Amino acid sequence: MADHLDLEKVYRAGNLDELRKAYDDWATSYDQQIVGDYGYRGHELIVARVRDLLADDAAILDAGAGSGTVGMAAKAHGFTCVDAMDLSLGMLEIAREKGVYRDVRVGVLGEPLDYADDSYDAVLSSGVFTPGHAPPSSFAELIRVVKPGGLICFTLRDDERPPGFVELFDALIAEGRWELVEKGAPFFSMPDGEPEVQHRIWLFRVV
Ligand SMILES: C[S@@+](CC[C@H](N)C(=O)[O-])C[C@H]1O[C@@H](n2cnc3c(N)ncnc32)[C@H](O)[C@@H]1O
Repeated sequence: MADHLDLEKVYRAGNLDELRKAYDDWATSYDQQIVGDYGYRGHELIVARVRDLLADDAAILDAGAGSGTVGMAAKAHGFTCVDAMDLSLGMLEIAREKGVYRDVRVGVLGEPLDYADDSYDAVLSSGVFTPGHAPPSSFAELIRVVKPGGLICFTLRDDERPPGFVELFDALIAEGRWELVEKGAPFFSMPDGEPEVQHRIWLFRVV
């Protein structure tokens, strides 16, 4: 196996600049390590989960797109209109090279996003809601950019759940902002490299 990045470096990044730099530096070897060697499959599972709920030409935002694994899976499943957004330009350059995205743009989850209200039929996000990464406050903007009736489907780290997420999910349901469609079963997301790590897929419909 090639040299691997110690994942603690990204989980324990002290601030956004450190996190961005860690991903910029990791970009060219990320796919080999995480998908090839560690067997990560969250990107495929979230695309498969929404496949039958969306038209082929549904407008989809891949939030925290990284190197473009969701875009690749979406193309394989027949989706034709997927945009990529991430804080790391280095990761996005790898994503852009794959040729599967309509638009590729830097953005920061937890801050205002550069998209109009109701721009998308769905947001997909794989591997981004995990310790040291995007905060619960990301969801206000994700709900804003999704049309009423649209979907938000994402993985959330489950064995070491970052604080504030589930409480926020319940609050957004109580406020009538979204409805829970499905809380998936936990799964081992990187069985060949980080065998203790579990994620769960959450699927909400925006009201
Ligand atoms: C583990 S990677 C997952 C990449 C891709 N979605 C996948 O499933 O392979 C996490 C990605 O989230 C991005 N990220 C982390 N925090 C973010 C934030 N606050 N806003 C935007 N992107 C963020 C990182 O730059 C990185 O590309």
